[in-house]
Amino acid sequence: MTNSQTLTVIERSDDQGNIARIRLATVDGTPLPAFDAGAHLDLYLPDLDMWRQYSLCSDPAETAFYEIGVLKDPASRGGSIKVHETAVNGASFTVEGPRNHFPLDETATQTVLFGGGIGVTPMIAMAHRLHALGKPFTLHYCARSKSQAAFLDLLDNCAFKDQVVFHFDDAGDDQRLDLPRDLPAVHDATHIYVCGPQGFMDWVINSAEAAGHATANVHREYFSADVDLTGDSFDVECAASGITVTVGPEDTIAKALAREGIKIEVKCEEGVCGTCLTDVIEGVIDHRDQFLTEEEREDGDVICACCSRCSGKKLVLDL
Ligand code: FES
Repeated sequence: MTNSQTLTVIERSDDQGNIARIRLATVDGTPLPAFDAGAHLDLYLPDLDMWRQYSLCSDPAETAFYEIGVLKDPASRGGSIKVHETAVNGASFTVEGPRNHFPLDETATQTVLFGGGIGVTPMIAMAHRLHALGKPFTLHYCARSKSQAAFLDLLDNCAFKDQVVFHFDDAGDDQRLDLPRDLPAVHDATHIYVCGPQGFMDWVINSAEAAGHATANVHREYFSADVDLTGDSFDVECAASGITVTVGPEDTIAKALAREGIKIEVKCEEGVCGTCLTDVIEGVIDHRDQFLTEEEREDGDVICACCSRCSGKKLVLDL
């Protein structure tokens, strides 16, 4: 395992909206490395033999602890429920990271952050950083209702509280997120960040791009995705070992190769974390992930092996 360490829960508070706020620190209290805003931590859940990714919401300059927010989601594969059960004060977790697939462009002259529900977590870290840099920004926090929104105590009292705009679904029309009004003017040095449920993200991304914002300036972090793993059978040849496997209609490349002893590391298993990226030598990829950019998809030389498939009959991988 790379970059793996054991961190212990030093504080756990159960916030509104079924969100546990969990502070993790080193076992002996030595300072943690500072992290870049937008980074996440990989948390290993041994009972489920599963890794889960959680965005860091603490101030990136904070070295005494890392804080994550975990939404208890009964519709998920059990990871968040397990974290809620086990992350009590004093509990230890094997973690990897922080890793950052959602970096902040600190050269921006204007930054607008959109967090939907638990998707506000990386935005809070970004807001801390932008505030420390003295950069202009606005954080739009969208939640179902004020009584179900976590982090209100923090956002109502922080140093950048005047740059936070709340939008609650069950409150008046004039305070709801209104993208024609709330998106910034198009400019090369204006950057937009969005994280939240998939429908929310699609809405913000599509609206921003339709308004003329460059795709490269609309940054996104999916924390889960409804990914369709199924499709027609195809073959996968591993160039180095010469092994060829067939990936069936309900199978994945990573699982089919694992059965033949070729291990590709996977974490999220739904195309959002990028852990399973594998080089492709030949064949047309049917991308199912949310991780790669449009440009990377068009290049067609790397695949998320946990979920993506082949558009033709065969892929040759650099394995
Ligand atoms: S394991 Fe996360 S993208 Fe494949």
